[in-house]
Amino acid sequence: MERRCDRPTAYGVPARILSRKVFITTYGCQMNVYDSDRMTDLLAAHGYARTAAAEDADLIILNTCHIREKAVEKVYSEVGRLRHLKEARAAGGRPLILAVGGCVAQAEGEEMRRRAPAIDIVFGPQTYHRLPALIAAARGGSAALDTEFPAADKFGALPKERMASGVTAFLTVQEGCDRFCTFCVVPYTRGAEASRSVAAVLAEARRLVARGAREITLLGQNVNAYRGTGRGGRRVGLGALIRELAEMPGLVRLRYTTSHPADMGDDLIAAHREVAELMPFLHLPVQSGSDRVLAAMNRRHTVADYRRTVDALRSARPDLALSSDFIVGFPGETAADFAATLALVEAIGFAQAFSFKYSARPGTPAATRSDQVPEGEKAARLQALQSLLRAQQAAFNRATCGRVVPVLFERPGRRAGQLVGRSPYLQPVHVEAAPALLGTVAPTAIEVVGANSLGGRLVEAAAPRAQTGPVDQDGRGQYR
Ligand code: 5AD
Ligand code: SF4
Repeated sequence: MERRCDRPTAYGVPARILSRKVFITTYGCQMNVYDSDRMTDLLAAHGYARTAAAEDADLIILNTCHIREKAVEKVYSEVGRLRHLKEARAAGGRPLILAVGGCVAQAEGEEMRRRAPAIDIVFGPQTYHRLPALIAAARGGSAALDTEFPAADKFGALPKERMASGVTAFLTVQEGCDRFCTFCVVPYTRGAEASRSVAAVLAEARRLVARGAREITLLGQNVNAYRGTGRGGRRVGLGALIRELAEMPGLVRLRYTTSHPADMGDDLIAAHREVAELMPFLHLPVQSGSDRVLAAMNRRHTVADYRRTVDALRSARPDLALSSDFIVGFPGETAADFAATLALVEAIGFAQAFSFKYSARPGTPAATRSDQVPEGEKAARLQALQSLLRAQQAAFNRATCGRVVPVLFERPGRRAGQLVGRSPYLQPVHVEAAPALLGTVAPTAIEVVGANSLGGRLVEAAAPRAQTGPVDQDGRGQYR
């Protein structure tokens, strides 16, 4: 029987030419998720289809993250596991290429191949557009290492097409970080800040929307430091970029992450007031509630600055909810410093947050400090902070109950007849709804609050914006 295998794929490459398979494991942040998707786009143009089974693959890529503890060891142990698969495959006559990319590869470089000769290719976050050449070298038996920070535009070298996106999509607009917080590896692994042009971002957004995206999250290591070239060669900030994107027909929701509090300029805050498409949920890492610790972290803002920024954001958009990152047990952090972090959390009120024990990252200034906090103390502080943050998140979710929120439907639910969408606050919402509602926003009355998601019922009329706010605040940031 003849099989129809030469239909064009999403990339315009006939399916029969997608004869090889690539398996990608992504660690870490959304920027790595985006990079893995772009590698998929690029490799499709070179005959590779993505597979969900490592056993099936001709090429395995580990797209790694270096931000927190034991990242390097985890990668080597995964490589150790894959080495057996590689040996079995070589014995069977179907070679397997093993590539390590991302921030661990950037930081370790050549050392990776010395420590784990099973690795064929080592590449960094700034060189994945050169993967086809690296693969060709590896196939030819040559060493394939590329962890440069090339001056040429990586994005320009990637295919224009994006893989069929879902209802929500990521779009990297900015990369790198110039802030050098003393705990963080990002400035070393991702390099200096660089922004894509407004035209390039708009073009990619248009293609995503054409493929069905209704919500786009703009990504950057320090996304609100965005300074892209706009019309007439003028450099514009993130607020201006958001205003342009909001005009795009079909694009109904915008978000951005991750931001630095000191880069939260007036124009971006004003965009929260003026742009209805910009969702009222912001991830704004503060790390600590102690000025002493913030200074030692080189965060270049104080607790009062952070509170002023949050006040300005909340007066621009009263239904805004906040998420944050915290580090406990930064070197020299005293019990009083930690108490100040708890006090800040109480004062602000977070809808969601991530919190971590400080982990010394090689090559960063804080790693060499002699006043490291004992592990047991870090663990106790983390537990105390997380229990407060969990209580705030639960209170936030409970406060949504009985309200009507606009839900963007993303995918069918596990139960027949059910769709899963997201509230403006990224809460998953399960609703009985027709598949035709996928990709649309519908007002939904929240009736059930679960541990990790909400349940709701479609309601007739579009809810006015004032009603979409999940919660009232008592003026001290507490939800009720
Ligand atoms: N130790 C613990 N947490 C860290 N983060 C970054 N570097 C470290 C580190 N060395 C956390 C910060 C950052 C988030 C992405 O990861 O909170 O905002
Ligand atoms: Fe790392 Fe963020 Fe600080 Fe940059 S601003 S150094 S990415 S924590």
